[in-house]
Amino acid sequence: MGFISDSLNRIQPSATIAISNKAMVMKAEGKDVIGLAAGEPDFDTPDNIKEAAIAAIRAGKTKYTAVDGIPELKKAICAKFKRENGLDYKPSQVSVGTGGKQVLFNALMATVNPGDEVIVPAPYWVSYPDIVMLAGGTPVFVDCTVEHGFKLQAADLEKAITPKTKWLILNSPSNPSGAAYARAELKAITDVLVKHPHVWLLTDDMYEHLVYDDFEFTTAAQVEPKLYDRTLTMNGVSKSYCMTGWRIGYGAGPEMLIKAMSKLQSQSTSNPSSIAQWAAVEALNGPQDFIPANNTVFKKRRDLVVSMLNQAKGISCPVPEGAFYVYPSCAGTIGKTAPSGNAIRSDEDFVTELLAAEGVAAVHGAAFGMSPFFRISYATGTDVLEDACKRIQRFCGNLR
Ligand SMILES: Cc1ncc(COP(=O)(O)O)c(C=O)c1O
Repeated sequence: MGFISDSLNRIQPSATIAISNKAMVMKAEGKDVIGLAAGEPDFDTPDNIKEAAIAAIRAGKTKYTAVDGIPELKKAICAKFKRENGLDYKPSQVSVGTGGKQVLFNALMATVNPGDEVIVPAPYWVSYPDIVMLAGGTPVFVDCTVEHGFKLQAADLEKAITPKTKWLILNSPSNPSGAAYARAELKAITDVLVKHPHVWLLTDDMYEHLVYDDFEFTTAAQVEPKLYDRTLTMNGVSKSYCMTGWRIGYGAGPEMLIKAMSKLQSQSTSNPSSIAQWAAVEALNGPQDFIPANNTVFKKRRDLVVSMLNQAKGISCPVPEGAFYVYPSCAGTIGKTAPSGNAIRSDEDFVTELLAAEGVAAVHGAAFGMSPFFRISYATGTDVLEDACKRIQRFCGNLR
């Protein structure tokens, strides 16, 4: 028996964090590296939010709080769900965690037993399968092809459901593809779930506010009220409010589930940072006008990146509806040879050679369960993005 637990041996460290770290190390060595692997906005946290945190510190709000959130934050979250999603939740139906990741972790660890299946549409956010496996469950991947805009199709969902299915995880707008489900597309999915009452739905709405071209965001519990009693609607302040380092995420759902999640959190981290919770109260209750302002910038960058990537030889980049990622195909580069003399046999080879030749760090699609693609985060300055895309064009042009 090894010292490290079997459950830990089942999982992998986050590929996105690993690549970001590799780019950071290369930069520290003085290499000219552009990191497009990190999943966080480059914008600073708005001042009113920072001030709320400073005020909380000064007022001595620096002690333990209720495990799954202060009443003021739960109230702000309930108001947010009502205002933005038309959803009625009581504070007792809300759980606040240390980032959206902990909320997801709590929900899966609190409910998944060995043998349970969790449907994960691919391409997926890197952490879903590993958390499912840590809990002893089996991730069941359903390919969502580029032809279907990387979105789960009702017929494919129907085929994937078995008596062992516990959850479907739905992420819109998606990390890594940026794909977001329109109301009718969501309804097609929820219609399937209505027929299978044993399947719960976890909607990861982390990128809710980051949608472009007048796309109207909707979430499943709003589209299909029949699913309200078996849906965990997850969200957080990390992305929309530029608060990735503050570590506040939340979920709302049936009280029974929320209580179970709180029980687990009480024996792990206890409450999320008291100061960050007060900052999140201000984020949700305060002015929201910086969100559309940021989105105008994000949209311009998205359009720039999509256009420039589509001019790179062998790359084909769809236009995503939201988030701050593009997920281009590098199928046209497979089988070619990089300037190093190494063959490009996979998307992993593509990103490795791209980093070596041009110092651009992107994440290979295999990390998100769909190849041959790669993910680029455009949450960085326009000049940097332009430079990075020129380097990608040059790299692709130099492949033989
Ligand atoms: C789809 C998705 N869900 C959840 C999270 C986790 O967010 P947080 O930083 O609040 O833990 C991320 C962060 O990258 C994400 O991309």
